[in-house]
Amino acid sequence: MGRPKITVVGAGNVGGTMAQRLAEKDEYEVVLVDIVKGVPQGKALDITQAGPVCGYSTRVVGTNGYDETAGSSVAVITSGIPRKPGMSRDELLTTNAKIVKSVVSALVSRSPNVILILVTNPLDAMVHVARRVSGLPKFRVLGMAGVLDSARMRSFIAAELSVPGPDVVAMVLGGHGDTMVPLSRYTTVKGKPVSELMSKERLEAIVKRTREGGAEIVGLLNTGSAFSCCPVWFSARASMD
Ligand code: 2OP
Repeated sequence: MGRPKITVVGAGNVGGTMAQRLAEKDEYEVVLVDIVKGVPQGKALDITQAGPVCGYSTRVVGTNGYDETAGSSVAVITSGIPRKPGMSRDELLTTNAKIVKSVVSALVSRSPNVILILVTNPLDAMVHVARRVSGLPKFRVLGMAGVLDSARMRSFIAAELSVPGPDVVAMVLGGHGDTMVPLSRYTTVKGKPVSELMSKERLEAIVKRTREGGAEIVGLLNTGSAFSCCPVWFSARASMD
């Protein structure tokens, strides 16, 4: 049996990083799609050519169309515009909903059993749009941001306590926006409740920084938003197992 095919739609910062991380796993065939001519093809070539040095032989295909995506097990949708400093994720709704609708239709018509993982903002609304347009069962349409929000909280706690990030387990519930709920009561370091390891004030500051973590990066980058936390391959893998 061949490798499972994973499509990444959008070859910007998130999509490009995602394709690179997937290629490094050396377990999938990767298709990178973007409407901008040359960009997905160029990134796919570059990632493929790094294989001999980085130790993988993943075939990465770049394309401006969807025919190459046929038979995908998983599609990660990153396309859409990012927010600018001072904007909320919700301000992207109208533009990105149109983009997500057309991407989902093009994907699902060629891969009727695909699992969709949404990254486009506003995340929770985009998951809903994808579910409605695709007609897929709810367990096949996922949003990735809860992992990103809890990863941020974990890294802030790790830095505060000078412990390795993987030792921290944090839980953030709710939507991917101002309503997210970092749950310090369920946050531990090597099994110890974090409330026993730092003051209430420091913990509250971390909770606030977690909520505003996306905006902090948007403010620094000025022309884009966060792209490095692409843990969706874990979800992809879990769903295919
Ligand atoms: C973030 O929180 C882009 O929404 C994403 O960084």
